[in-house]
Amino acid sequence: MICNGIKDAEFIRLAMLSRKLGFNTVIVLESPREVETVIAVARELDMEPMLGVRVKLTHRISGNWAESSGDRSTFGMNTDQLVAVIDRLRAEGMLHCLMLQHSHLGSQVPDVNDIRKAVSEACRYFTELTGEGAPLSHLDLGGGMGVDYTGEKKANENSINYTLEEYCTNIVEMVGYAMDEAGVAHPVLTTESGRAVSATSSMLLFNVLEATLYDAPTAPAAEPGDHHTLSDLIAVGGYVTPKRLQECWNDATFYRDELRALFRRGQIDLRQMARAERVYLNLMARIRTLAGDSDEDSDVAAALAAEADIYSCNFSLFQSLPDVWAIDQIHPIAPLQMLDRMPERRAILSDITCDSDGKVDRFILGDGVSPSLPVHALPEDRPYYLGVFFVGAYQETLGDLHNLFGDTNVATIRLRGDGGFDLLHEQEGDTIEEVLTYVEYDPADCVAAFRKLVDEAISNGRLTAGERRGLMRAYRDSIEGYTYYE
Ligand SMILES: Cc1ncc(COP(=O)(O)O)c(C=O)c1O
Repeated sequence: MICNGIKDAEFIRLAMLSRKLGFNTVIVLESPREVETVIAVARELDMEPMLGVRVKLTHRISGNWAESSGDRSTFGMNTDQLVAVIDRLRAEGMLHCLMLQHSHLGSQVPDVNDIRKAVSEACRYFTELTGEGAPLSHLDLGGGMGVDYTGEKKANENSINYTLEEYCTNIVEMVGYAMDEAGVAHPVLTTESGRAVSATSSMLLFNVLEATLYDAPTAPAAEPGDHHTLSDLIAVGGYVTPKRLQECWNDATFYRDELRALFRRGQIDLRQMARAERVYLNLMARIRTLAGDSDEDSDVAAALAAEADIYSCNFSLFQSLPDVWAIDQIHPIAPLQMLDRMPERRAILSDITCDSDGKVDRFILGDGVSPSLPVHALPEDRPYYLGVFFVGAYQETLGDLHNLFGDTNVATIRLRGDGGFDLLHEQEGDTIEEVLTYVEYDPADCVAAFRKLVDEAISNGRLTAGERRGLMRAYRDSIEGYTYYE
C-alpha cells in the first residue's frame, strides 16, 4: 500500500501501525516538512517505517495535464530538497528505511516518447539515490497511461500514440538499460494508472426527451399583403441549385435577419415572422441536401453544421460528464438502437439543467472531430437512447449537483463470454429529497411549508378537501422521486 499526498501525523501513525496488521504500507515523503513528522511519529511508536520519496521530474509532458509534470508541478521534491531529505534520514539513522522512489509522470500522457524521457530521468534519480546509500527496491512511476478517447491513435489531448503493450515494453526496456548501465539491481516496477484501468468500465446511458429541429419539411407560399422582404426570402427557393448554394445561403440569411429587424420594430406581425422562420429553415434543409458531404470545408458547410438539431437529453453534463464542460474532453457518443439504419439527422445534445453550458457540441466521428452527431429522427413509439463511453475515470466523482441534479441510477453488469451479461447490482440515483438535504434544506420543513399554503387555500375556499389530498400526494411523490425526467 503506497500512501502519497500530504499527510498529517494521525495519518502517518495509522500508516505505520498498519504494518502490525500485515500491510506493507509505504509512506511516500512529499516534502522536507513531512520527513520531520515521520521521524517524530516513528520515535513515538518506536517503529521503523517503510519509506518512499516523491521525486519531481523536470521533463514536461504534453496534453491536458502538462501542468502535473515538470518543475512547476505541485507535488514532490526537487533535487535540492531530495538531498536535504537524504541527509536528514541518514543523520537520523533511517536511510535504510527508504525503499521506494515515486515519480508520477503526469496524466493522460499523449506521447509515448514523453513517457520514455520521463522514465529515463526517473532512473537517473533512482541510481543516484541508490549510490547515496538508500536501499531502493521499488520504482513507482505513478499514473499517466492514457486512453484513446477518439480512436485517432495520435499524440493529442484526446488520444494517445501507443498501446498498453508499448507502454509496458518501453518502461521495462528503459529501466532495464538504465539499471544495467549503472550496475544497479532491477527494481520492482509499480504504476498507479487510474484512468487507463477504469475509463472503459463505465458508460452513461440516457434517453432523448425531445428534439428542436432546425429544418421545415415544407415552405409556406407567398400571400397577398406579405412584406416585400418576405417575398424576397420566399423567392430564394426558386434558385436553390448546386452551383448557387453559397448565394442562396447569403440571400436567405440576409433576408431572414432583415425580417427579424422588421419584427422588432413592429413592421411585420407575429404570423409573417413565423412564416419567415419556416421558409428559412426549409431553405436550409434544401441547401443541406444539395451540399451533401462534398462541400465539407465551405462557409455554407460550417454554417449548416452550426444549425444542427438540438436533442434535449435526460442527463446533467455537470453531474455525469464534467470533463466535457471543464476541459473539452471528447468522449465517444453513439446511438444504441436502430444501428441497421443510417442516421439521417445531425444534432448537438443539450442536458436538462437549463444551463447554456450544459451541452455537448464536439463529437468524434470516423473522420475526425465534428460539431454535430449523426442521429436518427426520434421514433414516436419508443425511447431513443444514446450512450457515452469511457466515462469510468473520474467523471462520477468529479460530478457536481449543479441545478440540483443528483447521482444517476447505476446498474453494475458483468459481460459473459457468450456476448450476454449478468446484472450484478442496481443502485437507485438520488431523490430530490436527498439532494435538498445535501444543500441544507430539510425536506420535512419543505412539506410543512407546502402544507401551510394548502391549508390557507382551504380556509380561503380555493381548495376542496379532495384536492388537498391530491396536491399533498403530488408534492410528496415529487420530492421522493428521481431528480431526472421520469
Ligand atoms: C500520484 C498520482 N498517481 C496516480 C494518478 C492517476 O493518474 P492516471 O489516472 O492519469 O493514471 C494521479 C493522478 O493525477 C496521481 O497524481
